[in-house]
Amino acid sequence: MSTEKSLYQPNPEFAKNAYIPSMDAYWELQNRAIEDYEGFWKGFADEKIDWLAPYDKVLDESNAPFYEWFTNGKLNVSNQCIDRHLADKADKTAILFEGDRGDVEKITYAQLSQRVNKMANLLKNEFGVTKGDRVVLYMPMIPEAAYAMLACARIGAVHSIVFGGFSAEALKDRIEDAQAKIVITADGAYRKGKPYLLKNVVDDALFRGGESIEAVLVVKRNNEPIEWVEGRDHNYNELIRSQSDVCPFEIMDSEDPLFLLYTSGSTGKPKGVQHSSAGFILWAQMTTEWVFDVKGDDIFWCTADVGWITGHTYIVYGPLAAGTTTVMFEGVPIYPDAGRAWKMVQDHKITQFYTAPTAIRVLHKMGKDEPKKYDLSSLKVLGTVGEPIDPAAWKWYYETVGNSKCAIVDTWWQTETGGHIITPLPGATPIKPGCATFALPGIMTEILSYEGISKEAGEPGLLCITKPWPSMIRNIWGDPERYKKAYFGDVAKDGKPVYFSGDGAVADEAGYITIVGRVDDVINVSGHRMGTAEIEAAVKEDNSVAEVAVVGCPHDIKGESIFIYIVLKEGHINADIKNHINELLATEIGNIAKADHIIEVPGLPKTRSGKIMRRILRSIAKHEEITQDISTLEDPSIVKQIETTAREA
Ligand code: PRX
Repeated sequence: MSTEKSLYQPNPEFAKNAYIPSMDAYWELQNRAIEDYEGFWKGFADEKIDWLAPYDKVLDESNAPFYEWFTNGKLNVSNQCIDRHLADKADKTAILFEGDRGDVEKITYAQLSQRVNKMANLLKNEFGVTKGDRVVLYMPMIPEAAYAMLACARIGAVHSIVFGGFSAEALKDRIEDAQAKIVITADGAYRKGKPYLLKNVVDDALFRGGESIEAVLVVKRNNEPIEWVEGRDHNYNELIRSQSDVCPFEIMDSEDPLFLLYTSGSTGKPKGVQHSSAGFILWAQMTTEWVFDVKGDDIFWCTADVGWITGHTYIVYGPLAAGTTTVMFEGVPIYPDAGRAWKMVQDHKITQFYTAPTAIRVLHKMGKDEPKKYDLSSLKVLGTVGEPIDPAAWKWYYETVGNSKCAIVDTWWQTETGGHIITPLPGATPIKPGCATFALPGIMTEILSYEGISKEAGEPGLLCITKPWPSMIRNIWGDPERYKKAYFGDVAKDGKPVYFSGDGAVADEAGYITIVGRVDDVINVSGHRMGTAEIEAAVKEDNSVAEVAVVGCPHDIKGESIFIYIVLKEGHINADIKNHINELLATEIGNIAKADHIIEVPGLPKTRSGKIMRRILRSIAKHEEITQDISTLEDPSIVKQIETTAREA
């Protein structure tokens, strides 16, 4: 049970001016949503969105689970993020960019408007990109990535950003699945003081396939020598100069897709999560305001990469829709030393700092006292995302970084949810470290069994969202059946399928929700989500491998690491198998998929029907006592053999 004593109360000075200043205010909002769900959302949609034509229905459930929000409403997301701010914020910094080598550029809303309009014209006029076309971005963390996103939004094209850490093969798969028309990339960028390349990965991807691509637009960032395919490759820096900075925005429907973002599930290939225009931007803006409490001259820094959902919602769309200043950082927070992030907070007077627990653990480990060397007094709200935060990292973040005066918002959400779902509110929620606390107003979560029965306090269950919400996933690109099955196929409440997140959670007597972790075959390495099936498929590309099983294993810094069991084909001996498999993973998926442990075992623990008992493999990876009943295994003796190999490895 949460006792008042174990909770960290909001800072009263801060709470006074917060968007949501108390738990009473929270409940007032949440009760309003419970009593009149559509009315609640209508109120915010009317207040926040610059509608170009009104919608005629708030929520259409007639084709569930293909929900529609704000039916027939018209808007443009780039107008919502840029144009409508120009009247009073033209000279305000929209994007504050800091390069890896310390170069700083402040881009005002007026400049952002000019650059996005120019890029929109370039895409439209030079490359014939029109409404509905898919545009793949394979970009470093430079402002042009944001310009490209907003330019797509302006002309109604659907962007699909592929994180720069993904391999050529992974990029090719995503290009092909989306049937994209153009790739926007950069020659490369800088990391840890050195140039690195990206364009070569695009070349490789297009060598492997990606036939739908008509052009590659290359931003020159580091001017390193790169290959150039005449006719296909185009120099952004040259072409952009002659473009007009006036490009009228397309009138988009509420439900027109804004972007696709590929993410991993428990089965098969990564899926293209499709987001909408109106519902997405509404919640991106509202959560930026409520959860980070941005206002006035705040300088908001989310350290994610634009290649992940956190970068989409909380570097670009949410902060710009809210009219705030968003920081974009090209480098890594530990270069040139472990004080880099804190120096940036000091230099730019950053007010909100949002990062992943892995980064906090790294910063803690590499420079426990580093924050004390800098003036961090501008900070008001600290945030975490992507994975659970352990008490030691939380305490350091709260005390040493936040000087015991900043709320920590531990935000639980997913690529599919578009924006925050369960999180403390900095001016309202008494915080329990490591706990995501309560669903935001307007969001209806429940912890259920597979039969749809609510779990009692203290009993872990399946974390479900029982009512559709505006920023929810709309579809899996090109695969509506998979969308239904993956998200609405497991749990039904009172006969009605509900959204199941794939996470387990538990609530206490006071309703505080703690995330327990994935209950499916998805692992989370440094906040990067990966499917074990996807990793296994890559390992099977090695023709000496007969069988493979991948599990997650706890890791001090990364949260989880990849642990691979392989069985070699008879007669095969491969002395270099570990290096080979890691090279394969880097090629098929990217460096983020490299395993910490790869062990060769004589067989896998299987039931008589051939199902691999992953729970046993997880226990062995953790060096835990095996408590499961192994008598039903096809060959129970295999467990001892695997345990011995794992111990010796
Ligand atoms: O398992 C949960 C974990 O990250 C998953 C979503 O991953 P992704 O779609 O890549 O989005 C990450 C950024 C939103 C979830 O299913 N997760 C996310 N936030 C938290 C978390 N686990 C614990 N605590 C969190 N705050």
